[in-house]
Amino acid sequence: RKEVGHISVGSKGFNDLIAGGIETQAITEVFGEFGSGKSQISHELAVTVQLPVEQGGLDGECVFVDTENTFRPERIEQIANAFELPVDEVLQKIHVARAFNSAHQILMVDKINELIQSGTNVRLVIVDSLMAHFRAEYVGRESLAVRQQKLNQHLHSLQQIANTYNVAVFLTNQVQAKPDSFFGSPTKAIGGHVLGHASTYRIWLKKGLAGKRIARLVDSPHLPEGECVFKITSEGIVD
Ligand code: GTP
Repeated sequence: RKEVGHISVGSKGFNDLIAGGIETQAITEVFGEFGSGKSQISHELAVTVQLPVEQGGLDGECVFVDTENTFRPERIEQIANAFELPVDEVLQKIHVARAFNSAHQILMVDKINELIQSGTNVRLVIVDSLMAHFRAEYVGRESLAVRQQKLNQHLHSLQQIANTYNVAVFLTNQVQAKPDSFFGSPTKAIGGHVLGHASTYRIWLKKGLAGKRIARLVDSPHLPEGECVFKITSEGIVD
């Protein structure tokens, strides 16, 4: 079995919360309301995975499955500059795949398999956001079972990539904020049960005061629950 790798999220406090960064051979889900920082963390990771191991990376490339047109090359440029990495090279190592609907999103996983088998050193797969298409296409109670079944299949194939190729899978999931629920259990997460079981790590993001963000680790199998504060700056994610 290959050794588990970690990818830095940019903030020391955040890395400490998840024992050194997001893990390979695992699925990490971040969920939170609009503007909580899910896409920003995705962009940060797309860059940090490319760093050498001693700087918190895996010397690897990344696939960014973009379902809502959130990928911003100019944001990558800012973050790459902050790490003094060559912007063009960094962008070349981010394979952006736009998914037009949920079926396309599911098929994308086969393309990722092919990319890796052709020799590309992919160490991170980002899906931003996991649920947008599923949520839009499967509306109403009667379609819920089918949606969950499709989602389950999708997550299973992502997990398989994670295990087979020692890759980290990072998923974002938008959920509605519920007042005063931060210390309770976020049971209303849109993915429901299926996602709850597939994710190895689940991180709840919340807006704090003065532009700060709070990340709370919930239902992790090995790590204690806890939280940290981080900031989103032009340089990316920082303490
Ligand atoms: P969605 O809107 O659902 O995509 O939410 P999200 O959780 O993905 O939010 P996102 O990651 O896009 O974070 C949005 C927040 O990040 C904004 O409110 C800003 O505070 C911050 N942000 C985004 N881009 C920049 C930037 O270029 N510079 C700085 N300093 N902050 C930024």
